[in-house]
Amino acid sequence: MKHLRLGVNIDHVATIRNARGGVHPDPLRAAQMAEAAGADGITAHLREDRRHIADKDIELLAENLTIPLNFEMAATDEMLDIALKHSPHAACLVPEKREERTTEGGLDAAGGHNMLKSYIDALRGNDIRVSLFIEPDLKQMEAAKRLGADIVELHVGPYCDVVSGDLRQRELDRILAAAAVADEYGLECHAGHGLTYDTVAPIAKIPNIVELNIGHFLIGEAIFVGLDTAIREMRDLMDKARAELA
Ligand code: PXP
Repeated sequence: MKHLRLGVNIDHVATIRNARGGVHPDPLRAAQMAEAAGADGITAHLREDRRHIADKDIELLAENLTIPLNFEMAATDEMLDIALKHSPHAACLVPEKREERTTEGGLDAAGGHNMLKSYIDALRGNDIRVSLFIEPDLKQMEAAKRLGADIVELHVGPYCDVVSGDLRQRELDRILAAAAVADEYGLECHAGHGLTYDTVAPIAKIPNIVELNIGHFLIGEAIFVGLDTAIREMRDLMDKARAELA
């Protein structure tokens, strides 16, 4: 069974740093600790309002990381220029609203087809793999394929947020169906948003998903047990769930 990659999102290390200004805690140090704890990649989202990750963080991550950097970005000219300047391993296109607390929904790849196409082509033309963060929805999957994306990252937030068993199963079924379609379309399949120790196993058991991107829960848990322990525990839960497939 294929290794399930863990991408650690370090945005909220920067959130804590920015609460006081200054340089502590350092997102690059967190990224290097994450790598030592078993992360396969690092994700950072440079938002238009720079509320957490700053331009300098992206520069330092791109210069110093030895594992792949997944640059999360809105489809704007400003972000495209920054991506082309630093050549991250991958760029994950996400919708961005100024007033939202976090990324609230997936990208409307179907509705925004014409607008997205030029960004995807420019990134891919510069050897940056392109991922689209979308809902596990057939229409969006078809659009991702038509747009020539390399990867889809399925938004699993709704699955993580529901508490009722029936509703959670319904969300899980949508994710399972979308992951199967990704395979059929030749799209690499990732998943993320809202994952915790309690919600990760059923997602890790979906064989065609090859990467999970996890941030907020790990940084929060690090307050209690340390970042290294939090990441190792998540890694362990993912590996155990995956091993059950073999
Ligand atoms: N994937 C994408 C595309 C995201 O926007 C986020 C949140 O920034 C994550 C994964 C990680 O979500 P969380 O911080 O809830 O684990």
